[in-house]
Amino acid sequence: MNQATSHIALNTPSYVKQQKLINWVAEIAALTKPDHIHWCDGSQQEYDTLCAQMVAAGTMKKLNPAKRPNSFLACSDPSDVARVEDRTFICCARKEQAGPTNNWMDPAEMRTRLNGLFDGCMKGRTMYVVPFSMGPIGSPIAHIGVELSDSAYVAVNMKIMTRMGKAVFDVLGTDGEFVPCVHTVGAPLTAGQKDVAWPCNETKYIVHYPETREIWSFGSGYGGNALLGKKCFALRIASNMGRDQGWLAEHMLILGVESPQGKKHYVAAAFPSACGKTNFAMLIPPASLNGWKVTTIGDDIAWIKPGANGRLYAINPEAGYFGVAPGTNTLTNSNCMASLNANTIFTNVALTDDGDVWWEGLSKQPPAHLIDWQGKDWTPDIGKETGRKAAHPNARFTVPATQNPVIDSAWDDPAGVPISAFIFGGRRSTTVPLVTEARNWVEGVYMAATMGSETTAAIVGQEGVVRRDPFAMLPFVGYNMSDYFQHWLDIGKKIAASPAELPKIYCVNWFRTNDEGKFVWPGYSDNMRVLKWMVERVEGKAAGTENILGLTPKFNDLSWDGLEFTQQQFDTITSIDPSAWKAELTLHTELFDKLEYHLPSELKTTKAQLEKRLSV
Ligand code: GTP
Ligand code: SPV
Ligand code: MN
Repeated sequence: MNQATSHIALNTPSYVKQQKLINWVAEIAALTKPDHIHWCDGSQQEYDTLCAQMVAAGTMKKLNPAKRPNSFLACSDPSDVARVEDRTFICCARKEQAGPTNNWMDPAEMRTRLNGLFDGCMKGRTMYVVPFSMGPIGSPIAHIGVELSDSAYVAVNMKIMTRMGKAVFDVLGTDGEFVPCVHTVGAPLTAGQKDVAWPCNETKYIVHYPETREIWSFGSGYGGNALLGKKCFALRIASNMGRDQGWLAEHMLILGVESPQGKKHYVAAAFPSACGKTNFAMLIPPASLNGWKVTTIGDDIAWIKPGANGRLYAINPEAGYFGVAPGTNTLTNSNCMASLNANTIFTNVALTDDGDVWWEGLSKQPPAHLIDWQGKDWTPDIGKETGRKAAHPNARFTVPATQNPVIDSAWDDPAGVPISAFIFGGRRSTTVPLVTEARNWVEGVYMAATMGSETTAAIVGQEGVVRRDPFAMLPFVGYNMSDYFQHWLDIGKKIAASPAELPKIYCVNWFRTNDEGKFVWPGYSDNMRVLKWMVERVEGKAAGTENILGLTPKFNDLSWDGLEFTQQQFDTITSIDPSAWKAELTLHTELFDKLEYHLPSELKTTKAQLEKRLSV
């Protein structure tokens, strides 16, 4: 890779001062052989130009500016619509370090394989050099990455999702550290070959080298596969940094909740992909619960570090939301809808005849005619006959966090916000009750570790299958899952030994269904009723009753003002069926058998206690 770059001008801007970075860009250019190199400065002008180019190339459509100013629709190849977990690899020295929940390959072997694939992979394309900061630029808690990508779609999405641009190079200076991220859609063009709207490759590799803190991604242009600051860096690589340095990188939203008396708490909540983080983070409390307020710090990822006083402080390392569109509407989440009014990139939603967007659940009545996400005519009748959805179930919006009408005033405070409680939740149509409070930290870690959830469209593969998803981090822990459990236990011990109080831990489930398969719990705004109980518990103001799982509210411990919800309905979503829980415990056993290597003994003890309570 040495005689390197003779075929192409590097065009390094004068403000880039780091030789190591320049050498790396040259080395990757020599390998991937792009036609051009574009160093992103992160300006609005650059964004506008790239979007205009993509409109001309057919990758994006400009939406009607009268309806949705400065907004675009991109539709992907039908084979490239979600994260590919079975193509995601953690390549560290020993397989046990990656653990049984990750795909592993020997780093040297993977490098050889990728060198072959990346050789010439950017021919005919432009390589964008995308400098980004996860966390406020220059803040001591932020970490920097540079993504080299041959996708303009990635470059513009990274501008929204991260602090992207020129200022990052100032922070890097001559010797600052950065995580090198190499991304290609894996679709080189021969001379004169016409490009397709959404280039990608059937072969896909999402590869992490935790030891050298590098990311290499091949073949996909979609979401977490391609926007490498997000799951690859802020979770898989950052979880490794956090383990080494004593902090947590989590798949969590962070929200502020303020009581009518003006007392504010921050909570962080982990739900698996497409299980309600964005919606919970932007929750609109029911007007009938006078005076409660919810504000957003982040909707997907939290970096959580112990402060000098022992308390945990959380920041959102992102600067935008890459959220699920289907199911979002003004009734379920008008805050979210308001944030999408302008400056938004939509991916894989449907196009209306007047140049706006539509997705399933946006309105009860679909428009009479649409162009669906695959560019085909769609009418309600066609939908009924063929079962085809107008928007892909994993269709998403990319929007700057600052457009959220309820963004918290501390959302980009480098100091972070103190966490009073952690919430873990899955999508379970049966078995798991509405809310349970752990009696102590270890029990909370057990609940999070054994959590199950039905799979969603956010992942390529079968939908609706219950799988264990520890901490909602199954696809995101960049090392051995049992060591990750131990890390959580260790953090708890540290807090317990400090003057700070341990955050409470809760387990929730908004998704229990009735005999007709309908959700019993109204969810969305009404989740405030459960959140209110939780913060009142933190303050020692609400009652909790013990059951075999932990502590739970009785019907009268929740506020029901403004909602018709009967004791009987409440019982349906809070009941604990011993036989279902015995079956559930066999799944815990299965998980623990799989994770036996380094599995903390405290978790085994907690399981034995639960088994004992179940058998009486
Ligand atoms: P990722 O971005 O994939 O990590 O997803 P997320 O956890 O942020 O999920 P999101 O809030 O985008 O919600 C995913 C889907 O679940 C959407 O279709 C929502 O409308 C739906 N949803 C969210 N909250 C609730 C709820 O409280 N009840 C019900 N029934 N559905 C919900
Ligand atoms: C998720 O799948 O949890 C997401 C979307 O938040 S993606 O960015 O594709 O990972
Ligand atoms: Mn997510």
